[in-house]
Amino acid sequence: MIVGVPKETVFEERRVALVPELVPKLTKAGLEVIVQSGAGTAAGFLDGAYVETGARLDLEVFDKADILLKVQRPTVDEVGRIKEGSTLISFLQPYSAGAEIKALATQKVTAFSMELMPRITRAQPMDALSAMSTVSGYKAVLIAASHLPKFFPLLMTAAGTMTPARVFIIGAGVAGLQAIGTARRLGAVVEAYDTRPAVKEQVESLGAKFVELRLETKDAEDKSGYAKAQSEEFYRKQQEMMFKWVTSADVVITTALVPGQRAPVLITAEMVHGMRPGSVIVDLAAEQGGNCALTTPGQEVARQGVAILGPTNLPSTVPFHASQMYSRTVANFLSHLLKEGKIHLDLNDELTRGPLVTHQGEILHEAVKRATS
Ligand code: NAI
Repeated sequence: MIVGVPKETVFEERRVALVPELVPKLTKAGLEVIVQSGAGTAAGFLDGAYVETGARLDLEVFDKADILLKVQRPTVDEVGRIKEGSTLISFLQPYSAGAEIKALATQKVTAFSMELMPRITRAQPMDALSAMSTVSGYKAVLIAASHLPKFFPLLMTAAGTMTPARVFIIGAGVAGLQAIGTARRLGAVVEAYDTRPAVKEQVESLGAKFVELRLETKDAEDKSGYAKAQSEEFYRKQQEMMFKWVTSADVVITTALVPGQRAPVLITAEMVHGMRPGSVIVDLAAEQGGNCALTTPGQEVARQGVAILGPTNLPSTVPFHASQMYSRTVANFLSHLLKEGKIHLDLNDELTRGPLVTHQGEILHEAVKRATS
């Protein structure tokens, strides 16, 4: 079977779905790998590196691949070029991709969405979302540091002592914990809050202070460890109680998400107005609506000297390691699907069934089907 790796076409996407070091893993499993010329260049993986590791270069891979590996979901036009009956493994953002999902079903593509990987222990090496959140959490801190008109660390110099920056991180999941670790390594004083009390210990083990709000969190998390939505009243109280922490911070990094819902608004315009000029907010929930009321996705907004950044697709700004991490999760998942060099689907296996969106002309994933119709 032929595995195809096309060049990504989405604006400013620099990642690639397979890095050269993983080509031998697939060829040893009996697959042939073809890579579109230039597919890895923006991430630092040149054509020659793919050839050296056993891949073949081509100008077009969509119509040749039996198994297509992508980062961003294919456009309807690209889906039209995919070979009927082939397999696609990619991020699909399936809940906002009605036309593309229908096109994949029409083309009888067996499409897997990496976002839908179940969060079970067995699936951890295939957890692409966590891998990308790690990159985003790290990069958010670097962006904040480069915008802040202050140092992060305490500096004692001949010109005097500079106090360290105060960083407040809202949401201590995968991205938040990475942000805490990165901000601590840069020397900032870090505080963090999450509705899931279970993360307190993780926050403290990274050298940050866990902010305890006198808020009763009902059913803070589901069985996968994700946050559950709280009431409007809860969010209002949370805003009130966080006012002090937000307005005394130099940097606020927000990562709060509730799966399948708009991100909760936790920082109001009033809170922003209470911040010191020069302070920075990096809103990692920008693509899901934003944790700050003033966030504009993909843009930098200035309000009374406070910079509010809503970066989108941060993993693409660290393309070498983001591609390496993403392609490991993809290759691990592909290995899970293979039996004697062929795709073997066990629809009773939740690891296979969880991310499966379309198969044999049908949209099999119930929630995606509802969102698509
Ligand atoms: P996420 O990206 O969906 O959410 C980010 C964070 O925002 C979460 O920690 C959530 O509790 C927090 N949050 C939501 N509403 C909030 C609010 N109003 N105020 C403050 N914080 C709020 O979650 P992520 O980072 O992808 O994962 C969350 C958890 O899922 C992990 O910490 C872990 O327990 C579990 N997990 C399990 C995995 C596995 O078993 N394979 C893999 C990765 C994560």
